[in-house]
Formats: sequence, structure tokens, C-alpha cells
Amino acid sequence: MGRSESEPIAVGVLGGGFMGGGIAEAVARAGHSVLLYEPVADARAASAQRLRKSVGRAVSSGKLAYGQGEALIGRVSYLESAEDLAEAALVIEAIVEDLEVKVDWFRRLDRIVPESTLLASNTSSIPIAGLASAVSCPGRVLGLHFFSPVPVMRLVEVVKALDTSPETLRFAGEFVESLGKQPIATKDRSGFIVNMLLVPYLMAAVRMFEDEFATREDIDKGMALGCGHPMGPLTLCDFIGLDVLYAVCQSLYEEFKQTEYAPPPLLKRMLAAGRLGRKSGRGFYEYAAERGATASPDGAARSRATTGGRGV
Ligand code: CAA
Repeated sequence: MGRSESEPIAVGVLGGGFMGGGIAEAVARAGHSVLLYEPVADARAASAQRLRKSVGRAVSSGKLAYGQGEALIGRVSYLESAEDLAEAALVIEAIVEDLEVKVDWFRRLDRIVPESTLLASNTSSIPIAGLASAVSCPGRVLGLHFFSPVPVMRLVEVVKALDTSPETLRFAGEFVESLGKQPIATKDRSGFIVNMLLVPYLMAAVRMFEDEFATREDIDKGMALGCGHPMGPLTLCDFIGLDVLYAVCQSLYEEFKQTEYAPPPLLKRMLAAGRLGRKSGRGFYEYAAERGATASPDGAARSRATTGGRGV
């Protein structure tokens, strides 16, 4: 591919949501330039605003100097046309967790970018092979699964699909390290390593709550204080987003047909009611619009140790 891994590269990010925006921040922070394409204009503006806010927090907490923060923001360009992703050496897709939508976008990217551009998906559970089948050179397609919040979490799962080339994997591993994160290698199975382990645990907590075995606070306290997890499982479900988790459960269940992966009925009902977790203001807990404020009417889980501290 003729790229020097130590040099900054141009990285395309498709999707400016919580994950796409977080990826853009982490990539720009490492000195790479970011071409972010978010098709919805309002979402694009919101993404730019979230980046400013996040960088502002890093500056005010002394993690970044003011000039470094401004330089980071200056390295992120918000594209109005997807065609401009053609300049990227690597495009990371972080759009909705829907196979058909992703496949359409991979087809489109295949027409936009040169053959030398690597194409990665940040999917949590959708088979990478299905996305690779939509492009002309599947050797350049892989999964790069980041964890939320991306600027903080130090792991990236590097997913090798059936046809991913060794050169693509080597480049991706070095790219992940350039972000100050640790790559781990995983096969292209639904859930990869982390979600295959995490989702049955989270769903067991949802079932426990659904069965009224214990309160949401006690379930969360159990794991936060008893096992030292930064967040209890129901708080973590809200943090990830119940729509995202539901899609991951469905994908895992379809792949393995094991009941531990099946989404519990309560999760489905909460989705139907628009209770998507922190992002919609209500999930297992209630949230204020502003990050950091609590809106829990009964004072639920206000302790940082219990809940991970923010907004619950
Ligand atoms: N963006 C940027 N930085 C953030 C942030 C955000 N959204 N949230 C927190 N931070 C930073 C803070 O600035 C702070 O940095 P410093 O310590 O350097 O000042 C640091 O993270 C810790 O934050 P706080 O002290 O305010 O809060 P905390 O100690 O409660 O930590 C947390 C917050 C990092 C989110 C912690 O609760 C945690 O690690 N929770 C678990 C998160 C987790 O499990 N993520 C994986 C989800 S699964 C997934 O993503 C995969 C999937 O496919 C579903």
C-alpha cells in the first residue's frame, strides 16, 4: 500500500453519531486528519458541537493544552459530500447497526474510494464477510470495533474476515497503536470477543430486573461494588443504548441460536416505548439532557461508585 505507518494519514469516518464522533476525536487526537461524513445536516452540526464540548472538557481538566485542543478540532473536516471520502487512506464506517444499510454504503464506498483505501466497519456484531462481499477487493475490508466512550476506552477489536489480507491487518494493527489503543485480534463471528462475553451478562441482568428478583440499584451495586466494575450492568445497558444492544442480541442469537443471547421481552418493550437509555433521556434510569446532571426522580443510583457517576 506504500504507506508509512508512522506518518499521519487521512481517515474517513462515515457517520457522526456517538461512536463515529468519538472515533473522529480519538483519530484527530493522535495527529491524523479526519474526513467525517454525516449525511444528515443537523446530525453533522450536533457532531461538531459534541467534539467541541468533549475537547473543551479535556482542556479544562488539563489533559490537553488549549492550542492542542484547537489543533485537534482543526484536523476534523465535516464533509458535505460522501465523494470527498476519496481522499482517505482508511474509511471507518460507524452508521446504524443494519446489515442492508451497511452493505449499501460499502457498495457506494467501493465506487468512491481508490482500491488502495482500506474499508473498516465499527459494527459490534454484523459479519464483516457480508460487507466485504459488497466491494471489488475484499482483502481491504476488516472490522475495527471501538468501545464507548471511544476517547477513553483503550481497546479496539481487529476483525479478520474470510478474505482480509495480512497487509490490511498489519496496517490496521499499527493504526490502532498509533491511537494509543491496544488492538486484539478476533475472528469474524457475531459479537467478536467482547460482546460475546458481555452481552449474556447484560441480558442476565435485564432478566433479573424483569423477574423482579432485585431492584435496578441493587443489581448495579452488586456488580459495581462487589466486582469493581466501573458501571453496574443496567447503567451500562443505558450507556451503550438499548437499541444498539437489541441489534447486537439479535445478531448473536441469529448466529448461535443460544437463549442466553436472545433479547428479553422487557428490552423489546422498552424499545417500543422509546426508552433507549441515556441518549433518549430514559432507559432503566432517567437522565437529564445535560451530561452530568441527575434526573432520577427517586434519587436512584446517585452514587458514582454505584453507577459510573454520570447522569443517572
Ligand atoms: N467522552 C470523553 N471522555 C470521557 C467521556 C466521554 N463520553 N466520559 C468520560 N470521559 C473521561 C473523563 O473526562 C475522565 O477523564 P480523566 O480521568 O482523564 O479526567 C475519564 O473519562 C473518567 O471519567 P469520570 O471520572 O468523569 O467518570 P468515571 O470515572 O465514572 O468514568 C467511564 C466514566 C469511563 C464511562 C466509566 O464509567 C467506564 O469505564 N464505564 C464502562 C464503559 C464500558 O464498559 N464501555 C464499553 C461498552 S461496550 C461497547 O462499547 C461495545 C459495544 O459494541 C456495545
